[in-house]
Amino acid sequence: MKAASDLEAQGRSIIHLEVGQPETGLPTVAADRVRELIGRQALGYTVANGIVELRQRIASHYLSTTGAVVDPESIFITTGSSAGFQLGFLSAFDPGDRVAVASPGYPAYRHILSSLGLEPVLLSVGEETRYQPSVQTLEALDKPVDGLILASPSNPTGTVIPSREFEALLDYCQAEGVRLVSDEIYHGITFDADVTTAAGRNGSEIIINSFSKYFSMTGWRIGWLIVPPDLQRSVECLAQNHYISPPTISQWAAFYTFDGIDELEANVARYRANRDVLLQGLPEAGFTKLAPSDGAFYIYADVSDLTSDSSALCKSILDETGVAITPGMDFDPHHGHQTLRISFAGATADMEEAIRRLKSR
Ligand SMILES: Cc1ncc(COP(=O)(O)O)c(C=O)c1O
Repeated sequence: MKAASDLEAQGRSIIHLEVGQPETGLPTVAADRVRELIGRQALGYTVANGIVELRQRIASHYLSTTGAVVDPESIFITTGSSAGFQLGFLSAFDPGDRVAVASPGYPAYRHILSSLGLEPVLLSVGEETRYQPSVQTLEALDKPVDGLILASPSNPTGTVIPSREFEALLDYCQAEGVRLVSDEIYHGITFDADVTTAAGRNGSEIIINSFSKYFSMTGWRIGWLIVPPDLQRSVECLAQNHYISPPTISQWAAFYTFDGIDELEANVARYRANRDVLLQGLPEAGFTKLAPSDGAFYIYADVSDLTSDSSALCKSILDETGVAITPGMDFDPHHGHQTLRISFAGATADMEEAIRRLKSR
């Protein structure tokens, strides 16, 4: 990102396939309602678990989109899912606990875990399991784990865990006393994929979600947790002491965002069109080993036939074509030198131009 913005500052035309966030903002209807609130309300602290109106609206959203029945009292509004991770991990685990994460995976998982004195256990996953862990992956570990983080769809791979495997993982974790943390931040952005929520099962799992991706609200820093009964008091105390409350204006913005679902669905339709442009064009540009892009706005490419240094490859692509792509090292310390993540959160015309430039290399 730094190299791309340096070149952009020098006047080069850069196509951003490296950013992991929507280029769109709050739906118009929500933006209008938020504007009305400013100046009319004090917008002071709220209760630590967030305004009841928003928690009820999230519960209704689960019921209408997935059929899951979720008690609004089990929902905790958080300062992005990033704060949700801290609250979830602090309440569920003790120092020294081992928590399994897929590799490739979202790098903050392992960094947050280690910063809290927990041990991240990297599960090396590949194309044979859609870059996702399975019950077999856990059974093959030489030492048991205390927790497991799943992300379906995943960042950086965009792959989902098929429903049957997801259910098997939930059952395995419940039976073995492994605390499952399901990061569902990319739910809503899927392309005919078989995606399952862990919400509504009423087991020991923690569900993490956010308004950042489907709801297009990254900078508002607002997300939520669904917390099982044994952890609710602990999360409430932690949230009160660490944050007092999530940002009030963002809670209302999130509440009104549910009135703008049509705009959000139009974003998803654009992501789908972008993905189709890339899935057709990337192989023609020499990137032939692509993970199935089931959801999120990412395509993960195995470039082992092109390089053993993905950072150097990304740098030369950027220098030669102005197309910015993320090398895989942050996502996978072991194999990331031979992988790339391509983000298609931008405009469809940019995807077409990126393919034109990549083909001309
Ligand atoms: C898989 C995943 N989880 C969580 C986050 C954190 O998002 P936020 O704190 O904005 O909710 C991200 C951000 O990119 C992500 O990709």
